[in-house]
Amino acid sequence: MPPLENLRIYLAGHTGLVGSALCRRFSRLAGVELIKATRSEIDLTDANAVEKFLYRIRPDIVIIAAGKVGGILANSLYPAEFIYENLAIQANLIHCSWNAGVKRLLNFGSACMYPKECHQPMRPDALMTGKMEPTSEPYAIAKLAGQSLCSSYNRQYGTSYVTAIPCNLYGPGDSFDPADAHVIPALMGKFFKARMEKAESVTLWGDGSARRELLYVEDLAGACELLLRCYEGQDPVNIGSGESHTIREIAKVVAEVVGFQGEMDWDPSGPEGAREKLLDSSELRGLGWFPSTGLKTGLEQTYRWFRENCKV
Ligand SMILES: NC(=O)c1ccc[n+]([C@@H]2O[C@H](COP(=O)([O-])OP(=O)(O)OC[C@H]3O[C@@H](n4cnc5c(N)ncnc54)[C@H](OP(=O)(O)O)[C@@H]3O)[C@@H](O)[C@H]2O)c1
Repeated sequence: MPPLENLRIYLAGHTGLVGSALCRRFSRLAGVELIKATRSEIDLTDANAVEKFLYRIRPDIVIIAAGKVGGILANSLYPAEFIYENLAIQANLIHCSWNAGVKRLLNFGSACMYPKECHQPMRPDALMTGKMEPTSEPYAIAKLAGQSLCSSYNRQYGTSYVTAIPCNLYGPGDSFDPADAHVIPALMGKFFKARMEKAESVTLWGDGSARRELLYVEDLAGACELLLRCYEGQDPVNIGSGESHTIREIAKVVAEVVGFQGEMDWDPSGPEGAREKLLDSSELRGLGWFPSTGLKTGLEQTYRWFRENCKV
Protein backbone atom coordinates (compact mmCIF):
# COMPACT_ATOMS: atom_id res chain seq x y z
CA MET A 1 0.00 0.00 0.00
CA PRO A 2 1.28 3.54 -0.71
CA PRO A 3 2.97 5.08 2.35
CA LEU A 4 1.33 7.55 4.69
CA GLU A 5 4.47 7.57 6.78
CA ASN A 6 6.47 10.77 7.11
CA LEU A 7 3.40 12.91 6.49
CA ARG A 8 1.94 15.58 8.73
CA ILE A 9 -1.75 14.85 9.36
CA TYR A 10 -4.02 17.38 11.07
CA LEU A 11 -6.86 15.52 12.75
CA ALA A 12 -9.69 17.94 13.59
CA GLY A 13 -12.05 16.57 16.27
CA HIS A 14 -9.58 14.10 17.80
CA THR A 15 -11.53 13.86 21.08
CA GLY A 16 -14.73 12.51 19.47
CA LEU A 17 -15.92 8.98 18.66
CA VAL A 18 -14.41 8.96 15.16
CA GLY A 19 -11.47 11.24 15.95
CA SER A 20 -10.27 9.19 18.93
CA ALA A 21 -10.40 5.95 16.87
CA LEU A 22 -8.43 7.62 14.06
CA CYS A 23 -5.99 8.94 16.65
CA ARG A 24 -5.38 5.42 18.01
CA ARG A 25 -4.93 4.05 14.46
CA PHE A 26 -2.70 6.77 13.01
CA SER A 27 -0.54 7.09 16.14
CA ARG A 28 0.62 3.53 15.44
CA LEU A 29 1.97 4.42 11.97
CA ALA A 30 5.69 4.94 12.04
CA GLY A 31 6.76 8.45 11.13
CA VAL A 32 3.26 9.97 10.88
CA GLU A 33 3.14 13.31 12.64
CA LEU A 34 -0.37 13.68 14.00
CA ILE A 35 -1.39 17.25 14.78
CA LYS A 36 -4.26 17.76 17.25
CA ALA A 37 -5.83 20.80 18.87
CA THR A 38 -8.66 20.96 21.38
CA ARG A 39 -11.72 23.17 20.98
CA SER A 40 -10.31 25.58 23.57
CA GLU A 41 -7.19 25.96 21.41
CA ILE A 42 -9.14 26.49 18.21
CA ASP A 43 -12.86 26.95 17.65
CA LEU A 44 -13.35 25.50 14.16
CA THR A 45 -16.41 27.70 13.52
CA ASP A 46 -14.03 30.72 13.62
CA ALA A 47 -12.74 31.21 10.06
CA ASN A 48 -9.85 33.54 11.04
CA ALA A 49 -8.60 31.17 13.71
CA VAL A 50 -8.75 28.20 11.29
CA GLU A 51 -6.91 30.12 8.58
CA LYS A 52 -4.09 31.20 10.94
CA PHE A 53 -3.81 27.71 12.40
CA LEU A 54 -3.54 25.95 9.02
CA TYR A 55 -0.98 28.46 7.73
CA ARG A 56 1.09 27.82 10.84
CA ILE A 57 0.98 24.02 10.87
CA ARG A 58 1.02 23.40 7.06
CA PRO A 59 -0.18 19.78 7.13
CA ASP A 60 0.05 17.35 4.19
CA ILE A 61 -3.37 15.90 4.97
CA VAL A 62 -6.41 17.27 6.85
CA ILE A 63 -9.03 14.96 8.37
CA ILE A 64 -12.33 16.57 9.41
CA ALA A 65 -13.66 14.41 12.24
CA ALA A 66 -15.07 17.52 13.96
CA GLY A 67 -18.75 18.38 13.78
CA LYS A 68 -21.98 18.87 15.65
CA VAL A 69 -23.27 15.31 15.99
CA GLY A 70 -26.18 13.73 17.86
CA GLY A 71 -29.16 11.39 17.84
CA ILE A 72 -32.82 12.02 16.90
CA LEU A 73 -33.58 14.02 20.07
CA ALA A 74 -30.65 16.44 19.70
CA ASN A 75 -31.36 16.88 15.97
CA SER A 76 -34.99 17.78 16.60
CA LEU A 77 -34.21 20.16 19.50
CA TYR A 78 -31.24 22.02 17.95
CA PRO A 79 -31.68 22.15 14.14
CA ALA A 80 -30.07 25.61 13.94
CA GLU A 81 -26.84 24.50 15.63
CA PHE A 82 -26.75 21.32 13.53
CA ILE A 83 -26.86 23.16 10.23
CA TYR A 84 -24.81 26.22 11.20
CA GLU A 85 -21.94 24.57 13.07
CA ASN A 86 -21.47 21.80 10.53
CA LEU A 87 -21.57 24.24 7.62
CA ALA A 88 -19.08 26.55 9.32
CA ILE A 89 -16.63 23.83 10.39
CA GLN A 90 -16.55 22.23 6.93
CA ALA A 91 -16.44 25.51 4.99
CA ASN A 92 -13.61 26.85 7.18
CA LEU A 93 -11.52 23.69 7.12
CA ILE A 94 -12.00 22.95 3.41
CA HIS A 95 -11.46 26.50 2.14
CA CYS A 96 -8.53 27.25 4.48
CA SER A 97 -6.91 23.87 3.68
CA TRP A 98 -6.96 24.79 0.01
CA ASN A 99 -5.57 28.25 0.86
CA ALA A 100 -2.75 26.70 2.85
CA GLY A 101 -1.82 24.38 -0.03
CA VAL A 102 -3.24 21.15 1.43
CA LYS A 103 -3.75 18.69 -1.44
CA ARG A 104 -5.45 15.82 0.44
CA LEU A 105 -8.37 15.96 2.82
CA LEU A 106 -10.78 13.43 4.30
CA ASN A 107 -14.23 14.76 5.16
CA PHE A 108 -17.10 12.84 6.79
CA GLY A 109 -20.66 12.79 5.55
CA SER A 110 -23.44 10.70 7.04
CA ALA A 111 -26.01 8.17 5.84
CA CYS A 112 -28.68 10.85 6.64
CA MET A 113 -27.55 12.58 3.42
CA TYR A 114 -29.47 9.98 1.42
CA PRO A 115 -33.15 10.53 0.59
CA LYS A 116 -35.71 9.15 3.03
CA GLU A 117 -37.15 6.92 0.32
CA CYS A 118 -34.06 5.40 -1.23
CA HIS A 119 -33.35 2.15 -3.01
CA GLN A 120 -31.44 -0.14 -0.62
CA PRO A 121 -28.50 -0.56 -0.42
CA MET A 122 -27.87 3.15 -1.02
CA ARG A 123 -25.29 4.12 -3.62
CA PRO A 124 -23.57 7.53 -3.86
CA ASP A 125 -25.37 8.27 -7.15
CA ALA A 126 -28.66 8.36 -5.16
CA LEU A 127 -27.53 11.49 -3.24
CA MET A 128 -29.79 14.50 -3.89
CA THR A 129 -32.44 12.47 -5.70
CA GLY A 130 -35.20 12.94 -3.12
CA LYS A 131 -36.39 14.48 0.15
CA MET A 132 -34.48 13.71 3.32
CA GLU A 133 -35.77 12.51 6.69
CA PRO A 134 -37.24 15.76 8.18
CA THR A 135 -35.72 15.33 11.70
CA SER A 136 -32.15 15.26 10.43
CA GLU A 137 -32.60 17.46 7.35
CA PRO A 138 -30.59 20.50 8.63
CA TYR A 139 -27.67 18.23 9.55
CA ALA A 140 -27.96 16.33 6.26
CA ILE A 141 -28.04 19.53 4.19
CA ALA A 142 -24.83 20.72 5.89
CA LYS A 143 -23.25 17.34 5.14
CA LEU A 144 -24.32 17.52 1.47
CA ALA A 145 -22.79 20.99 1.31
CA GLY A 146 -19.53 19.60 2.75
CA GLN A 147 -19.45 16.94 0.07
CA SER A 148 -20.16 19.53 -2.62
CA LEU A 149 -17.37 21.76 -1.24
CA CYS A 150 -14.94 18.85 -1.59
CA SER A 151 -15.98 17.99 -5.14
CA SER A 152 -16.04 21.67 -6.21
CA TYR A 153 -12.48 22.31 -4.99
CA ASN A 154 -11.38 19.08 -6.66
CA ARG A 155 -12.99 20.10 -9.96
CA GLN A 156 -11.70 23.67 -9.95
CA TYR A 157 -8.36 23.31 -8.20
CA GLY A 158 -7.34 19.68 -8.74
CA THR A 159 -7.28 18.77 -5.03
CA SER A 160 -8.03 15.27 -3.65
CA TYR A 161 -10.71 16.02 -1.07
CA VAL A 162 -12.76 12.90 -0.36
CA THR A 163 -16.03 12.55 1.56
CA ALA A 164 -16.50 9.26 3.41
CA ILE A 165 -20.12 8.38 4.26
CA PRO A 166 -20.22 6.04 7.26
CA CYS A 167 -23.26 4.16 8.50
CA ASN A 168 -24.23 4.39 12.23
CA LEU A 169 -21.04 4.11 14.27
CA TYR A 170 -20.51 2.95 17.83
CA GLY A 171 -17.60 2.12 20.09
CA PRO A 172 -15.23 3.54 22.71
CA GLY A 173 -15.45 7.33 22.93
CA ASP A 174 -19.18 7.53 22.11
CA SER A 175 -21.39 10.05 23.91
CA PHE A 176 -23.58 8.39 26.56
CA ASP A 177 -25.30 11.65 27.46
CA PRO A 178 -29.04 10.87 26.92
CA ALA A 179 -29.44 14.38 25.44
CA ASP A 180 -27.34 13.60 22.35
CA ALA A 181 -26.76 9.85 22.33
CA HIS A 182 -27.08 7.73 19.16
CA VAL A 183 -28.94 4.42 19.12
CA ILE A 184 -26.29 2.19 20.81
CA PRO A 185 -25.30 4.43 23.74
CA ALA A 186 -28.98 5.40 24.19
CA LEU A 187 -30.01 1.73 24.51
CA MET A 188 -26.98 0.81 26.61
CA GLY A 189 -27.58 3.70 29.01
CA LYS A 190 -31.29 2.87 29.39
CA PHE A 191 -30.68 -0.83 30.04
CA PHE A 192 -27.84 -0.11 32.45
CA LYS A 193 -29.97 2.34 34.45
CA ALA A 194 -32.86 -0.14 34.51
CA ARG A 195 -30.54 -2.93 35.73
CA MET A 196 -29.11 -0.73 38.47
CA GLU A 197 -32.61 0.33 39.57
CA LYS A 198 -33.88 -3.26 39.29
CA ALA A 199 -36.65 -2.01 36.96
CA GLU A 200 -38.85 -4.71 35.44
CA SER A 201 -39.21 -3.01 32.07
CA VAL A 202 -37.76 -0.34 29.82
CA THR A 203 -39.71 1.80 27.33
CA LEU A 204 -38.10 2.22 23.92
CA TRP A 205 -39.08 4.55 21.06
CA GLY A 206 -40.80 3.29 17.93
CA ASP A 207 -42.05 -0.23 17.26
CA GLY A 208 -38.54 -1.67 16.88
CA SER A 209 -38.96 -2.59 13.21
CA ALA A 210 -36.78 0.19 11.68
CA ARG A 211 -33.50 -1.21 10.39
CA ARG A 212 -30.01 0.15 11.07
CA GLU A 213 -26.56 -0.69 9.75
CA LEU A 214 -23.93 -0.48 12.47
CA LEU A 215 -20.14 -0.33 12.25
CA TYR A 216 -17.62 -0.57 15.06
CA VAL A 217 -15.54 2.59 15.03
CA GLU A 218 -12.16 0.79 14.98
CA ASP A 219 -13.25 -0.84 11.69
CA LEU A 220 -14.11 2.62 10.35
CA ALA A 221 -10.59 3.80 11.23
CA GLY A 222 -9.13 0.92 9.17
CA ALA A 223 -11.32 1.90 6.21
CA CYS A 224 -10.15 5.53 6.50
CA GLU A 225 -6.50 4.50 6.47
CA LEU A 226 -7.13 2.44 3.33
CA LEU A 227 -8.96 5.35 1.67
CA LEU A 228 -6.10 7.72 2.36
CA ARG A 229 -3.60 5.23 1.02
CA CYS A 230 -5.43 3.91 -2.05
CA TYR A 231 -8.51 5.86 -3.12
CA GLU A 232 -7.97 8.12 -6.08
CA GLY A 233 -11.57 8.68 -7.16
CA GLN A 234 -13.66 11.83 -6.83
CA ASP A 235 -16.97 10.34 -5.70
CA PRO A 236 -18.00 10.06 -2.05
CA VAL A 237 -17.31 6.62 -0.57
CA ASN A 238 -19.76 4.68 1.62
CA ILE A 239 -18.37 2.87 4.67
CA GLY A 240 -20.75 0.28 6.10
CA SER A 241 -20.74 -3.18 7.63
CA GLY A 242 -22.98 -4.49 4.82
CA GLU A 243 -25.81 -5.79 7.02
CA SER A 244 -28.71 -4.13 8.77
CA HIS A 245 -30.62 -5.26 11.87
CA THR A 246 -33.98 -4.18 13.26
CA ILE A 247 -33.81 -1.93 16.33
CA ARG A 248 -35.57 -4.78 18.17
CA GLU A 249 -32.74 -7.19 17.28
CA ILE A 250 -30.10 -4.64 18.23
CA ALA A 251 -31.85 -3.91 21.54
CA LYS A 252 -31.88 -7.64 22.36
CA VAL A 253 -28.09 -7.95 21.93
CA VAL A 254 -27.44 -4.73 23.87
CA ALA A 255 -29.66 -5.95 26.75
CA GLU A 256 -27.75 -9.24 26.78
CA VAL A 257 -24.38 -7.46 26.92
CA VAL A 258 -25.55 -5.15 29.73
CA GLY A 259 -27.22 -8.01 31.63
CA PHE A 260 -30.72 -6.47 31.63
CA GLN A 261 -33.29 -9.26 31.81
CA GLY A 262 -36.52 -7.26 32.07
CA GLU A 263 -39.20 -6.51 29.45
CA MET A 264 -38.92 -4.08 26.54
CA ASP A 265 -42.06 -1.96 26.02
CA TRP A 266 -42.22 -0.26 22.62
CA ASP A 267 -43.75 3.21 22.35
CA PRO A 268 -44.79 3.71 18.69
CA SER A 269 -45.53 7.42 19.34
CA GLY A 270 -41.80 8.07 19.94
CA PRO A 271 -39.61 9.24 17.02
CA GLU A 272 -37.90 6.45 15.11
CA GLY A 273 -36.15 8.10 12.14
CA ALA A 274 -35.80 6.51 8.68
CA ARG A 275 -37.26 3.00 8.13
CA GLU A 276 -34.09 1.56 6.67
CA LYS A 277 -30.56 2.68 5.98
CA LEU A 278 -28.12 0.28 4.37
CA LEU A 279 -25.11 1.51 2.44
CA ASP A 280 -23.67 -0.01 -0.70
CA SER A 281 -19.99 -0.23 0.28
CA SER A 282 -18.83 -2.07 -2.84
CA GLU A 283 -16.24 0.62 -3.67
CA LEU A 284 -14.36 -0.09 -0.44
CA ARG A 285 -14.87 -3.85 -0.73
CA GLY A 286 -13.19 -3.53 -4.14
CA LEU A 287 -10.18 -1.98 -2.42
CA GLY A 288 -10.00 -5.04 -0.15
CA TRP A 289 -11.63 -3.63 3.02
CA PHE A 290 -14.08 -5.53 5.14
CA PRO A 291 -15.03 -5.02 8.80
CA SER A 292 -13.62 -7.54 11.26
CA THR A 293 -15.63 -6.84 14.45
CA GLY A 294 -18.96 -8.65 14.95
CA LEU A 295 -21.87 -6.81 16.60
CA LYS A 296 -21.72 -8.72 19.90
CA THR A 297 -17.94 -8.28 20.25
CA GLY A 298 -18.14 -4.59 19.35
CA LEU A 299 -20.94 -4.05 21.87
CA GLU A 300 -19.00 -5.85 24.62
CA GLN A 301 -15.97 -3.63 24.01
CA THR A 302 -18.17 -0.53 23.98
CA TYR A 303 -19.84 -1.57 27.24
CA ARG A 304 -16.45 -2.13 28.87
CA TRP A 305 -15.40 1.39 27.82
CA PHE A 306 -18.69 2.82 29.11
CA ARG A 307 -18.23 1.19 32.53
CA GLU A 308 -14.62 2.37 32.82
CA ASN A 309 -15.14 5.91 31.55
CA CYS A 310 -18.67 7.17 32.16
CA LYS A 311 -20.04 8.36 35.46
CA VAL A 312 -23.58 7.04 35.96
N1 LIG B 1 -21.21 8.94 15.19
C1 LIG B 1 -21.76 8.41 14.11
O1 LIG B 1 -22.53 7.43 14.15
C2 LIG B 1 -21.44 8.99 12.75
C3 LIG B 1 -22.03 8.37 11.63
C4 LIG B 1 -21.77 8.88 10.38
C5 LIG B 1 -20.96 10.00 10.23
N2 LIG B 1 -20.40 10.58 11.33
C6 LIG B 1 -19.57 11.78 11.10
O2 LIG B 1 -18.28 11.61 11.66
C7 LIG B 1 -17.79 12.87 12.14
C8 LIG B 1 -17.37 12.72 13.60
O3 LIG B 1 -18.49 12.30 14.36
P1 LIG B 1 -18.35 11.78 15.86
O4 LIG B 1 -19.47 10.83 16.10
O5 LIG B 1 -16.97 11.37 16.15
O6 LIG B 1 -18.69 13.11 16.68
P2 LIG B 1 -18.34 13.47 18.20
O7 LIG B 1 -18.02 12.25 18.97
O8 LIG B 1 -19.45 14.34 18.67
O9 LIG B 1 -17.01 14.34 18.08
C9 LIG B 1 -17.05 15.60 17.47
C10 LIG B 1 -15.68 16.22 17.59
O10 LIG B 1 -15.74 17.52 17.00
C11 LIG B 1 -15.23 18.48 17.92
N3 LIG B 1 -15.88 19.77 17.69
C12 LIG B 1 -17.20 20.02 17.53
N4 LIG B 1 -17.41 21.32 17.33
C13 LIG B 1 -16.20 21.93 17.36
C14 LIG B 1 -15.75 23.27 17.23
N5 LIG B 1 -16.61 24.28 17.01
N6 LIG B 1 -14.42 23.52 17.33
C15 LIG B 1 -13.54 22.53 17.57
N7 LIG B 1 -13.90 21.23 17.69
C16 LIG B 1 -15.22 20.93 17.60
C17 LIG B 1 -15.56 17.90 19.29
O11 LIG B 1 -14.77 18.53 20.25
P3 LIG B 1 -15.19 18.55 21.83
O12 LIG B 1 -14.53 17.33 22.42
O13 LIG B 1 -14.63 19.82 22.33
O14 LIG B 1 -16.69 18.50 21.87
C18 LIG B 1 -15.20 16.43 19.04
O15 LIG B 1 -13.81 16.26 19.10
C19 LIG B 1 -18.93 13.88 11.94
O16 LIG B 1 -18.72 14.58 10.76
C20 LIG B 1 -20.16 13.00 11.77
O17 LIG B 1 -21.11 13.60 10.96
C21 LIG B 1 -20.62 10.10 12.59
